[in-house]
Amino acid sequence: MDKVEAKKKIEELSKELRKHNHNYYVLSRPSISDFDFDMMLKELQSLELTFPEFAEENSPTKRVGGDITKKFPKVKHKYPMLSLDNSYSTEEIIEFEERAKKLVEGELTYTCELKYDGVAIGITYVNGQLKYGVTRGNGQEGEDVTANVKTIRSIPLELSGDFPAEFEIRGEIILPRANFDRMNEERIKEGLEPYMNPRNTASGTLKLQDSAVVASRGLDAFLYGLYGDDLPFQDHFESVMKAADWGFRIPPIDQNYIKKCQNIDEILEFINYWDEKRTELGFDIDGIVIKVNSYQQQKQLGYTSKSPRWAISYKFKAESVSTRLKEITYQVGRTGAITPVANLEPVLIAGTTVKRASVHNADQIEKLDIREGDTVFVEKGGEIIPKITGVDLSKRAPGLKVHSYATHCPECGTALIRKEGEAQHFCPNAIGCPPQIKGRIEHFISRKAMNIDGMGTETIDQLVNEGLIRNYADLYSLKTEDLLPLERMAEKTVENLLNGLEESKEVPFERVLFAMGIRYVGETVAKKLARHFKTMENLLNASLEELIAVDEIGERIAESLIEFFTIEENRTIQHVLAQQGLRFELEESQLADMSDKLAGNTFVVSGVFTNYSRDEVKAEIEKNGGKVSGSISGKTNYLVAGENMGPSKKAKAEKLGVAIINEEEFSKMIQ
Ligand code: IVH
Repeated sequence: MDKVEAKKKIEELSKELRKHNHNYYVLSRPSISDFDFDMMLKELQSLELTFPEFAEENSPTKRVGGDITKKFPKVKHKYPMLSLDNSYSTEEIIEFEERAKKLVEGELTYTCELKYDGVAIGITYVNGQLKYGVTRGNGQEGEDVTANVKTIRSIPLELSGDFPAEFEIRGEIILPRANFDRMNEERIKEGLEPYMNPRNTASGTLKLQDSAVVASRGLDAFLYGLYGDDLPFQDHFESVMKAADWGFRIPPIDQNYIKKCQNIDEILEFINYWDEKRTELGFDIDGIVIKVNSYQQQKQLGYTSKSPRWAISYKFKAESVSTRLKEITYQVGRTGAITPVANLEPVLIAGTTVKRASVHNADQIEKLDIREGDTVFVEKGGEIIPKITGVDLSKRAPGLKVHSYATHCPECGTALIRKEGEAQHFCPNAIGCPPQIKGRIEHFISRKAMNIDGMGTETIDQLVNEGLIRNYADLYSLKTEDLLPLERMAEKTVENLLNGLEESKEVPFERVLFAMGIRYVGETVAKKLARHFKTMENLLNASLEELIAVDEIGERIAESLIEFFTIEENRTIQHVLAQQGLRFELEESQLADMSDKLAGNTFVVSGVFTNYSRDEVKAEIEKNGGKVSGSISGKTNYLVAGENMGPSKKAKAEKLGVAIINEEEFSKMIQ
């Protein structure tokens, strides 16, 4: 075959295969036998091998996979990927609907959808070609898993019709139950542990390096939202319908997967329908999502820092089952907190085998009178760890002993303490208790803290067990010759690890402070403290009163800080870290940006701005010493008002005499 013929044939086959794929996976109307489809695909594959110059970027052969991705590059989301506000009762849905009605002008309609239980994905199309598929990640940036996304056959690689030049479509990648069960059957045959549940398996699969393996697992996707700068429609429901014209498979209206609702009764009807019918679906859902349709009204309702105010999810009630409690054991956390764990006779809840459940603390055990050997009720709600909600007393065997709570640490034998007013017991042996030592180091290296590449839990276990490190400061004195003799430590691994440590010296002060694992000093508190005190030295020398004087730092946090730095070992560690060159002060650029122009003032930010995003306005306020609040109250000094601000906010501000300023006036305040 000559080049001209080959090019023509490749184009023909691609077109033909694309059409059959669409008919089968999007429209559920097969138009060719599987055998003929495979033959055609093989022909195309072989032509592409011989004439790679004609292989299209989005050729149907990409469905089969084969591309290997070693490391998924990080990609910043053009539109942040937020989450949804959850609700567990219909009352909350009624409140949501009433609130929405109050806050916007005009008639409201809603779209009700299934809340697919999978992994979120954002797929960008440019000129009708699938360009990137990116995971949610931390909401701001995710991982580029394009090659794997392309193997999902219901996701079009090329669009048809009058699609916008560039847009993103978001949805959920799921693993249908049948495919999950098939995989597990095979695993069990091979003597391997079965996978936990379809959601985790979908998530793991999407991050496999070999896209051919991904293709073989049978992932699927449901798409639920369009994002773009100039989308050619006014409302959400319309946008979903339109996506079908471009080649996307949309949730079938005739099977009630999606419904346009006019009022609360229709919404509740949709919820009740799926509460009953959800087990009949071939995939997992964990609730229902209700969205305000009109984009204009969505804009008026706006966003909280985490989620849109124009949407809410209704989570189905947790499934409750009963099983036997074999034994209560105790876990020691990184801060020494003791958590009792119920070890159960394995039981299936909501598709997951559960062997352990949480019982919170000693009071809870006493209150529910939980005894080893009891039959207990176990529930799995929104949280990951199931919990015990009660005891089936009718099944209690005679002679079961009242449970006596542990008095000593199961790991190091130290007598446990319980502070007044606190629910949890603690092991006070912070310096010598192995899980506390390891836990602190694990926290130190974690992504949001020092983010040290090349190091994981296993490495830390080895390092601590071999006596090479006793605390996180010791990490920085590790040498190649200490590490190489350890198990699974190749030269490259050691090099990565040492590089990771070296690079961590650039991590900003606020994250170093967070990494130190001071009780109650989370990410936000660390940021507040760093911005206020500017250097570690200032923080170390601060008195209790000076600490409490900082906005949002209460007595509990202040006392914890003082206690932490009173301990000699912590002072030494801090000293070593400083000597190793970790950042213990704000960077010049951060300092230069800061001022106290807005100190003592509380702001509420609402609406859309021209020169800033809403988050940028908030960041500016904080950088200049002001405080940002989510709602208007007597304490609010200024409402920074953008376009399309909700009318109720404005009314409230006027009523309370809060100064309303526009973007320009705000700009002037910080100049
Ligand atoms: S809309 C701004 N619709 O639920 C948030 N999300 O907690 C827009 N999800 O991460 C999300 N089904 O991955 C939306 N029909 C649906 C959904 C859905 C599942 C997931 C989504 C998101 C999470 C939010």
